[in-house]
Amino acid sequence: MDTKPAYGENVTVRIEDGIAWVTLNRPKKRNAINPGIVFEMVAAIDAIEMNDDAKVLVITGAGDAFSAGQDLKEYFREPDAGDPRLREKLHNANSYWQWRRLMFYPKPTIAMVNGWCFGGAFQVLCACDLAVAAEDAQFGLSEVNWGIIPAGIVTKSVAMALAQRNALYYILTGDTFDGKRAEQIGLVNFAVPKAELEARTTALAKKMMEKNPHVLRVAKTAYHRVREMSWDSAADYLNAKNDQMQVRDPEKGAQKGMTQFLDEKSYKPGLGAYKRDK
Ligand code: ACO
Repeated sequence: MDTKPAYGENVTVRIEDGIAWVTLNRPKKRNAINPGIVFEMVAAIDAIEMNDDAKVLVITGAGDAFSAGQDLKEYFREPDAGDPRLREKLHNANSYWQWRRLMFYPKPTIAMVNGWCFGGAFQVLCACDLAVAAEDAQFGLSEVNWGIIPAGIVTKSVAMALAQRNALYYILTGDTFDGKRAEQIGLVNFAVPKAELEARTTALAKKMMEKNPHVLRVAKTAYHRVREMSWDSAADYLNAKNDQMQVRDPEKGAQKGMTQFLDEKSYKPGLGAYKRDK
């Protein structure tokens, strides 16, 4: 198993106009997640974090699949039969990129679901902040069809993202559903005709880029943290976080917004973002 931290083969990255387009690149295998994808994704998202040209990260798949989930041969069968230390290293690296890292990634993330999306790919989808799907993309929690449960952290991701009836329906039946249905049940923000997928994703990324990146980073972390807290702890945490954020915000957004609204009367916070220095 090759664990070297590089990318460009199983995962490609193109940074353009502030967007880092990260593509799972095994189209012949429907972008099934093998050790190559796992270790290259770890390296790619670490590199993108430090690249100031990348403001928003978009994850998509090459060819007609987003991802057919974990690679049954290279992620399960071969490592299961090999050195258990390497298997553990692989599984740890996979949880690192698929959710531990992605959910709390310091830049906004969008899953652009262009086609097949199965099993472990739901982890990636749910860990991204936002998701846009092609109307004809096909989704499925197919684990039940081959005798396992949605493990990794898939069941937890789905339980957080969907209402119980929908989550259990798809976990128990393994039925596939399309992008329009994914939008209806709130698994993606919206589904669009495939020809518009990239343009609509770009527009969404650009909307994120207009906002204060420091605020976006703290807002998404706070969202995930408070979901697991009591109301009292959440209130304490949010107020402390908000205070800390304003002290550390390099562009002093809160003061700027306040001045522009109250003193200069140059913008309305209900209708758009305060004017940021470029
Ligand atoms: N693991 C390993 N190989 C895969 C996977 C996978 N998850 N998905 C596709 N492939 C391989 C196929 O074995 C095939 O390889 P080959 O060309 O060497 O025979 C190649 O990718 C193309 O796949 P096809 O099945 O021929 O493609 P098709 O377009 O007809 O079907 C589909 C696509 C529906 C996605 C099908 O490949 C499929 O059902 N894949 C498995 C989906 C799944 O259940 N994923 C969940 C895995 S479990 C988990 O993630 C926890």
